[in-house]
Amino acid sequence: MTTPLYAPIDLERLPRHVAIIMDGNGRWAQQHKLKVALGHRAGTETLREIIRNSSDLGIGSLTLYAFSTENWTRSKTEVEALMQLILDFFHSEIDELDEKNVRITILGDKDGLPQKQCEALKEAEIRTEKNTGLHLNIAINYGSRAELVRAAQLLAKDVQEGLLQPGEITDAHFARKLYTDGQPDVDLLIRTSGEMRLSNFLLWQCSYAEFVFPTVLWPDFDLKQYHACIAEFQGRKRRFGRRPDADE
Ligand code: FPP
Repeated sequence: MTTPLYAPIDLERLPRHVAIIMDGNGRWAQQHKLKVALGHRAGTETLREIIRNSSDLGIGSLTLYAFSTENWTRSKTEVEALMQLILDFFHSEIDELDEKNVRITILGDKDGLPQKQCEALKEAEIRTEKNTGLHLNIAINYGSRAELVRAAQLLAKDVQEGLLQPGEITDAHFARKLYTDGQPDVDLLIRTSGEMRLSNFLLWQCSYAEFVFPTVLWPDFDLKQYHACIAEFQGRKRRFGRRPDADE
């Protein structure tokens, strides 16, 4: 593996699933006296670098929060800028991601997006569905409560069709109805910009995640900080509800 490491990371103990709330584009734009759209554009450069590096490191799943169901309340100009960046990203990156064996899954309601974006996302999922490298989840038009409600509806349908009795429903059945079906729970959740909130992101999948909150704004987040977050994760003692002295 030739990828340089910027912090003491044990490549044998990488988090299987990293999730990132890419916060701070607006404040970065303000600091640089730029329009907010340019903050998001700068944030897209960071996102490219983090995806590439996660694939090189050998991370199993990476989930990025790109657009929440609540983000529609932002100004028309900002929403349009984000939609354009999303479209541009898929057009410009899809060949390289496919070559790198990256599998793309979209978390969220694609049909609620403008037609061009919806088609590009569906195409990317279909084109990469057999890839076996990094599993890249991009949450777009995503809200965790909506995802949980959708899972409950799908399970209710299974019960209605006689495939399952209500009392038979387990954690595993529930997890199978989430967008992240088949992927491990989140091990490491990173939110940049110093905010310490989950903001309706992966509520089920983060049940036992370790949280790291670097204060840097997303466009300034770099590989040094990313690797420091992974090293911090590796230094944590995870308990999963057990006594601290219990065997791992
Ligand atoms: C939060 O920063 C960031 C977002 C709402 C959007 C994140 C999107 C990108 C990084 C790029 C577009 C996505 C793709 C897949 C190409 P904020 O605007 O809330 O920052 P603030 O809290 O400083 O205002």
